[in-house]
Amino acid sequence: MTARHIDDWRALSVAYQPPWPDEAVLAEATAELTSFPPLVTSWEIETLKRKLAEAARGERFLLQGGDCAETFEGCTSNTIANKLKILLQMSLVLVHGTRRPVIRVGRFAGQYAKPRSSNTETRDGTTLPSFYGDNVNKPTFDAHSRTPDPWRLLRGYERSALTLNFIRSLVGGGFADLHHPEYWDLAFVEHAERREEYKAIIERISSGLAFMETLSGTAASDLSRVDFFTSHEGLLLNYEAALTRKVPRRDGHYLLSTHYPWIGMRTADVQQAHVAFFSCIRNPIAVKVGPSIEPDALHEWIKELLGALHPDDEPGRMTLIHRFGAEHTASHLPALIDAVHKTGKTVLFVCDPMHGNTRSTADGLKTRRFEDILLEVEQSIEIHDRCGSVFGGLHVELTGENVTECTGGARGLQDADLADGYRSMVDPRLNAEQSLELAMLIARRGLSPLAT
Ligand code: PEP
Ligand code: CO
Repeated sequence: MTARHIDDWRALSVAYQPPWPDEAVLAEATAELTSFPPLVTSWEIETLKRKLAEAARGERFLLQGGDCAETFEGCTSNTIANKLKILLQMSLVLVHGTRRPVIRVGRFAGQYAKPRSSNTETRDGTTLPSFYGDNVNKPTFDAHSRTPDPWRLLRGYERSALTLNFIRSLVGGGFADLHHPEYWDLAFVEHAERREEYKAIIERISSGLAFMETLSGTAASDLSRVDFFTSHEGLLLNYEAALTRKVPRRDGHYLLSTHYPWIGMRTADVQQAHVAFFSCIRNPIAVKVGPSIEPDALHEWIKELLGALHPDDEPGRMTLIHRFGAEHTASHLPALIDAVHKTGKTVLFVCDPMHGNTRSTADGLKTRRFEDILLEVEQSIEIHDRCGSVFGGLHVELTGENVTECTGGARGLQDADLADGYRSMVDPRLNAEQSLELAMLIARRGLSPLAT
């Protein structure tokens, strides 16, 4: 619904919230959050919005990636730097392959809460609250750990600030300098075939850079600093509302916990609180779209959704992240594109090839096949081409660590290999090698129609 006031969501049904045991403690914790400084600024948010508007016109490409859920434990120098490294490597490869400047957005510095399909989990006859992400409770299976604790929201805010501080220092201090791609090497990414291909791309980019600098007689200073933006699912509305502010000399409210929040597939009900809250913030926003909405119903839903969230067709405001899975992309994506076209509005279309392709192994591990992920991307590129629409970006769950959570890829990981390095508490992520491989295969294909 289109809310008129920033607090209107409070009167609506708020889906997928954890069962906080004491509302008064929640109010106390969030009151403290309202006094904290923001994590990002409205200038950065408006800059990102302008870039996303360009991506929607096919002039840039969005790369959005990171963990399904960050953990407090993972707030370490290595984990953060490795995530940055893999995103930088992928973005270089994608710049090369798509011929478009890449907007880098992390699923980081705040991705600490998860919507759960069941409120409880039962093990050996004991039933406890599900794990909702580190912002809410701990994954360990005992009553104390699993009881939602609102004070963890403050710990999450702090971890977000620590993460962002380190990212800003690395990026500002030259780590992301395109003249020094060797800074981004990940020791364990050594699969011969891909490594040579990556090196060749880097060499071509470096010599292009040197040529440009020779030609202009100056260093390409813009290239010594690349931007990173942050994003997370805006699930816990009490937390997000506490970090939403009015800023001087700008209209409306800005959510200042992140640049680019998204609404998850489960909370995208137009009549409910998440859409109402997001309709009142000025950030660029995204909504996940999955196969649970039948193609026939997409027209009506998109009309209402964009009516609520994108009433003025403001450039860069609205992203739709489709995640239909390799199985349902052909049946659903053309209807989604057509539904948007019928509204006459512009959105940025981004493909999340992860969440529609989740399956369980015989041992009960959640996993995804690299082949399915690649197939969904390839089908999406072709369908956007065919429908006269722009394939504007990629949203992936990845880590810079050497985990074994998704099968396939150059190393041919099998179901039986997954137990070796399975660390995710929630969804399976591409490891660094698989992530780079995905970027390379997309780059090799390019974004133009395939010659037939
Ligand atoms: C996610 O991005 O981790 C997620 C829960 O996605 P979706 O809302 O698309 O299921
Ligand atoms: Co996920």
